[in-house]
Amino acid sequence: MQELLARAISRLTGVENPTVTVPDLAEHGHFATPVALQLAKERKANPMGIAAELSVSLVGDPELEGIVLNAEVAAPGFVNIRLTPQAHHRVLQEIIDRGQQVFQSRLGEKAIVEYSSVNVAKPIHVGHLRNTVLGASIARLLEATGTEVTRWNYLGDWGTQFGKVVVAYQRWGNEEQLKADPLTELVSLYVRFHEEAKADASLEDEARAMFLRLEQGDDEVRALWQRFRDASVDAAMPLYEQLGARFDTWDGEASLEGDLQGIIDELSAKGLLEESEGARVVKLEEEKLPVALIQKTDGASLYLTRDLALLKRRLTRYPDHRILYVVANEQALNFQQLFAIAKRLGWPVERAVHVKYGLVLSGDGKKLSTREGRVVTAQEVLDEAASRVADIVKERGDDIPAESVTAIATGAVSYALLKDQRTSDIPFSWERLLDFGGDSGPYLQYTYARLASLIEKSGNVSAFTLDPLDDPRELELIRTLDQYAPTVSRAAADLQTSHVALYLYQLASKVNGYYQAVPILKDEHAARQAARVALLKSAQQTLASGMQLLGISPVERV
Ligand code: ARG
Repeated sequence: MQELLARAISRLTGVENPTVTVPDLAEHGHFATPVALQLAKERKANPMGIAAELSVSLVGDPELEGIVLNAEVAAPGFVNIRLTPQAHHRVLQEIIDRGQQVFQSRLGEKAIVEYSSVNVAKPIHVGHLRNTVLGASIARLLEATGTEVTRWNYLGDWGTQFGKVVVAYQRWGNEEQLKADPLTELVSLYVRFHEEAKADASLEDEARAMFLRLEQGDDEVRALWQRFRDASVDAAMPLYEQLGARFDTWDGEASLEGDLQGIIDELSAKGLLEESEGARVVKLEEEKLPVALIQKTDGASLYLTRDLALLKRRLTRYPDHRILYVVANEQALNFQQLFAIAKRLGWPVERAVHVKYGLVLSGDGKKLSTREGRVVTAQEVLDEAASRVADIVKERGDDIPAESVTAIATGAVSYALLKDQRTSDIPFSWERLLDFGGDSGPYLQYTYARLASLIEKSGNVSAFTLDPLDDPRELELIRTLDQYAPTVSRAAADLQTSHVALYLYQLASKVNGYYQAVPILKDEHAARQAARVALLKSAQQTLASGMQLLGISPVERV
């Protein structure tokens, strides 16, 4: 509808792509345009006069006959437009015939979406959970709007911590436990290393030497590293499966070992590298950034150095991709330094974006942690959600399949992690996450299931005409359905899942309000009932489509 109006306004005024908005207040019409204000400036004329002219031509336009109900002028020069029920029917009919068509505004575009990027031999914590849910959803949003996406899990599989884990394994490792529950064993070895190193400082030297052996390709150490890496990836798989996260490449930090010297050489050829107390650095005073450490005194590379190699690899191997890094706000400095250095090297770094996101906080505003003060793992959050959903269901005396419990719980967590602007910190609360009547995943699930049951009970009428739909609430619902595709496009453009979450919440509230207020199954007009069910079906499909973009699988019974 918005587009149809914009086209007509453009034809009538000569303005290209005129702004058409959806007013917050119903009194201001279904749609509004400030185009008269723009024209008045250009022509140095009175905006109210131009608005009046435009409203007359909108109402009298033969092509808009039966579409525009009225057009009112509002100070200082807005035109508020209302559309006829027929215009609404036409739009709904199109959605029914073709399904919700999201405009492929990014057709032909390509993007790497780097996300999850968990660390080998370290716990997958709640921050990685937010990352994984967010990255998977952004990838789906981009695909829905036409972008070809390469999903990249940049594993943290290199660095001095491997020296530590190998040393700890050789001293205190338990083979059986490593087989039974590899990640737990590796994490506890890492923790033990740090405890013992407090008393025995020589352990740190030993670990450094061990990492050096790994870097130099020592077969024995290399084999252990490979084993730890495989075990960590295997341990992450159930989580990825549950969240619907998948990856086209798993190339991690280790895969860049061979590229690091090239980076050092390039930096020094450009005269960017400086010696500083035996280490090599790039000074970024001009950019007002702290000095970037590129190579340590002992020759070891750093996270940032590997990021330079990674960026270079992506820029050369994926010459027409945007490069999206889904990484926490906390690492903003790393990316500022990375992009600043890349720019100085003359790389086309405008293709790269740090897609930042905030922390997951507990009620008291601290980082979410367990009672013992340890970070909460991703799986713990999902499991706790599932057990709470199961309790709620049991309390109500209901019985629903275990897969549905998991789907509701996973959806609840995903929604809670996606509904805010990504750069905000999230105050985590079980009450809100599982509020079946509120701004939550379960509320969307509940609405979907209610619609499914209404549609089923109605006997699934297939022949209908939309003419009987004239209640203001149903017309509003149609306008809401019409907003789905533009909302998805905006979310993909802004890389903000929150737009879709807010939209789905509003759609769910409206549709719930609607079927509660008007008779559906008890409607005594058969033709109107059929039209109403068709409207509900369309709402149900739209809801399902949006839920899937957010990684929430709809279930038939809640
Ligand atoms: N593995 C890192 C972590 O868990 C995140 C990697 C982010 N990506 C990057 N290109 N630096 O903190």
